[in-house]
Amino acid sequence: MMAAAKRVQFDVRMGDCIDLITTLAPASIDFIYLDPPFNTGRTHKAARGAFRDVFAGVDGYIAFLKPRIECMQRVLKPEGSILVHCDWHASHRVRVLLDEVFGSERFLNHLIWQYGLGGSSPRVFARKHDDLLWYAKGTKWHFTPPRVPATSRRMLGQTKKATDVLDIPSINNMSKERCGWPTQKPLALLEMLVEACCPLGGTVLDPFCGSGTTLVAAQSLGRDAIGFDISKDAVALTKSRLQSTHCTE
Ligand SMILES: C[S@@+](CC[C@H](N)C(=O)[O-])C[C@H]1O[C@@H](n2cnc3c(N)ncnc32)[C@H](O)[C@@H]1O
Repeated sequence: MMAAAKRVQFDVRMGDCIDLITTLAPASIDFIYLDPPFNTGRTHKAARGAFRDVFAGVDGYIAFLKPRIECMQRVLKPEGSILVHCDWHASHRVRVLLDEVFGSERFLNHLIWQYGLGGSSPRVFARKHDDLLWYAKGTKWHFTPPRVPATSRRMLGQTKKATDVLDIPSINNMSKERCGWPTQKPLALLEMLVEACCPLGGTVLDPFCGSGTTLVAAQSLGRDAIGFDISKDAVALTKSRLQSTHCTE
């Protein structure tokens, strides 16, 4: 007799992640992906909501992130890992913070997400990538190397292991995938990261889930997922995205 497929579980809640993470059992999460505000000094707006990304300088930003990252470290399993999505505004300081909380010896990768779209500048090289910093909690962690199309003529039509530069387009304005949340990340990016860093049947936490891209990726990949966001609009959007892809909560 075939075993019944396990139903994927979701937990989506509104609130400051610092309060909500403390409700989770210690050492219960396999993989954390966070895409917090980046310290851009702006309020990001789109059709379905907005969020404020203004801090008292980079020091104020790090003071905001530090206690939240510390809570995240506590809920990771001993073999869990964390991937922090940031950009040039503060990636230099976020890496130092992660070294402090996890230990510099737990650093795994500095991934570059190269996204292409956007404008250019007459004064500096156009900024076309984000930074994703990956740390392990302990000395072991899950990794399934993603495969991407090979580009050399010799390997045409074959795949190769992805490098630390992820070449994935951002969501264009006309895309059906765009759901109206500012700074929404592409599903293809989150699918690659969740599949690579969270074991099948494991649990992913996104403490700044926005429109729920991480949870939608987890759903399609058979991982349980937990999403928190301080905005009620974000939480409503996450729930509706999960339901529209025939998912149970
Ligand atoms: C960059 S967006 C996340 C976008 C998301 N990755 C997506 O694909 O839609 C950052 C999110 O953090 C949320 N946020 C800001 N401060 C928060 C806090 N203290 N706790 C939880 N969520 C917070 C914002 O409401 C916003 O939705």
